Amino acid sequence: MHVRDARYLETDTRLTPSFRRLDETTAEQWKEIAAEAALNQHRVGDNVLRMLRSLASLTEGFPVNQLVHSLQTAARAESAGADDELLVAALCHDIGNLIEPSNHAMIAAEILRPFVRKEVYWVIRVHQEFQGRYYFHHFNLDRNISDRYKGHPSYELARRFSGEWDQMAFDPDYETPPLEYYEPLVRKIFSRRNPFTGGG
Ligand SMILES: [Fe+2]
Repeated sequence: MHVRDARYLETDTRLTPSFRRLDETTAEQWKEIAAEAALNQHRVGDNVLRMLRSLASLTEGFPVNQLVHSLQTAARAESAGADDELLVAALCHDIGNLIEPSNHAMIAAEILRPFVRKEVYWVIRVHQEFQGRYYFHHFNLDRNISDRYKGHPSYELARRFSGEWDQMAFDPDYETPPLEYYEPLVRKIFSRRNPFTGGG
């Protein structure tokens, strides 16, 4: 049974939406929608920070929880001189684990995609295969599966991301910065563009 529940009918009273179907919309209405989306861009950073905080609830047998792992990955990237995009990507690379570990790399990469350059997107997208070098053999999987990317222009960066930052970041004794330290950078990167692309 379908219920008309007021919770799902909240609208912004500053606007006067007068359509109930997209094929009734006008250019003027889309202009208003785009302007609203731009005003709300700051919510993206807030939401990403909320997701990162939630990673603290995932430990799953590892020596540190997933938030600590993410912070350590970012801290190692920062010590190595990573730029802002790479640094935020390091912080967010496992955010997809909140949904599903088996495709977490793709989830994280797609969240980052509108905000980072192609190279950074790709490194996050394939990072699990590069991480496999350090543990896939325990599952009788091919630990060298990332060799198939040899020759890719970002192969060396992906090797470095995994080998020197990601796979190293499970150390309970590592001096880990708090999430607050990276908050301004997260807000800066995720407020860069209006991701509004239209459609519902
Ligand atoms: Fe990781």
